[in-house]
Amino acid sequence: MIEERKNEHIEICLEKDVRAHHNYWDDIDLVHRALPEIDFDDIELGTELFGIKMDAPIIISAMTGGTDMGKRINENLAKAAEKLGIGMGVGSQRAALEHPELFETYSVVKNYRVPLLMGNIGAPQLINQKKQRGITEREIERLFVMTDADILAVHLNYLQEAVQPEGDMRAEGIIGALPTLSKKYPIIVKETGAGISRNVAIKLKRAGVLGIDVGGLGGTSFAAVEHYRSLAMGDEEKAELGKLFWDWGIPTPASILEASVGIPIIATGGIRNGLDVAKAFVFGASAAGIAGQLLRPAAESYEAVLKELERIIRELKVAMFLLGAKDVHALRNSRFVVHGMLRDWLEQTEV
Ligand SMILES: Cc1cc2nc3c(=O)[nH]c(=O)nc-3n(C[C@H](O)[C@H](O)[C@H](O)COP(=O)(O)O)c2cc1C
Repeated sequence: MIEERKNEHIEICLEKDVRAHHNYWDDIDLVHRALPEIDFDDIELGTELFGIKMDAPIIISAMTGGTDMGKRINENLAKAAEKLGIGMGVGSQRAALEHPELFETYSVVKNYRVPLLMGNIGAPQLINQKKQRGITEREIERLFVMTDADILAVHLNYLQEAVQPEGDMRAEGIIGALPTLSKKYPIIVKETGAGISRNVAIKLKRAGVLGIDVGGLGGTSFAAVEHYRSLAMGDEEKAELGKLFWDWGIPTPASILEASVGIPIIATGGIRNGLDVAKAFVFGASAAGIAGQLLRPAAESYEAVLKELERIIRELKVAMFLLGAKDVHALRNSRFVVHGMLRDWLEQTEV
């Protein structure tokens, strides 16, 4: 059943427009610097995240595994990540814990030297659910072994769980489960399109996680994905729920500010191009994560993924040149103007 759901997610994301109705990166303008005072060729895109060096500050966000198509997508993504020296996460590995024959749909990434590789499990799996016990320590070890992961990303997806027909909605006790886990293993926590608020970020930091992927609003909407799934299943009530919560969440740029509590932030959610990546750094991120924008090329071929990522990296470099930023850290000093809906968010949330 999990495999079926995974395929449906991918198919819906490929066939329908499941993006939030507003992309908040468009509400940011960066202030041009007519005298960059650096040479384009001297711009350094390399960075270090969690002590691991990458050639560009980009992470391919968790998407898939558990199916034949997932295996192909993971392979295309891993090959491109190796070539460009960037990070990558696999999708939720729960399916392979339950069905060992699916192991290789994730472990295929081991054939490539991805500098920063992240495993993935849902936070709901950390505790007992109505129909399923929580994950054991042996299973956590297996998650790491499966992909030779440097880090395990624990994902928060309660928006999706709440609007999907078969969601796991027990959430009490998750934060209590994290400190034991993060004492033993390198853990980050990621949202999946609804963002992280200041309060949650503080709790996560106290729980000992190494970093936060804010996974904010503006790109892929899982309420939208579940809306289409429910429609196809003839579940009108859930379809309506998905539609209502389509644009629920904290905009990614606002979530970067919310989650700035002294541990590295990965900015995921609605990143489409290199200019969005530059904006993420200006707002304080340590890396940018991209999922939805890479799905179509990943379903096509390694070459298509490479072409898309090379475009994004080229655009980032041009943005850095026009801002006079020799490396990604220097982007923090850039000035910016905020418009419209994002401006409302920033003015009224004031972190
Ligand atoms: C098809 C698809 C499957 C996904 N599956 C997972 C998953 O298994 N685990 C996870 O943590 N996030 C998953 N995500 C969420 C992404 O990692 C990311 O947080 C989210 O899509 C927002 O980024 P985007 O706007 O660039 O798509 C998935 C996203 C897509 C598009």
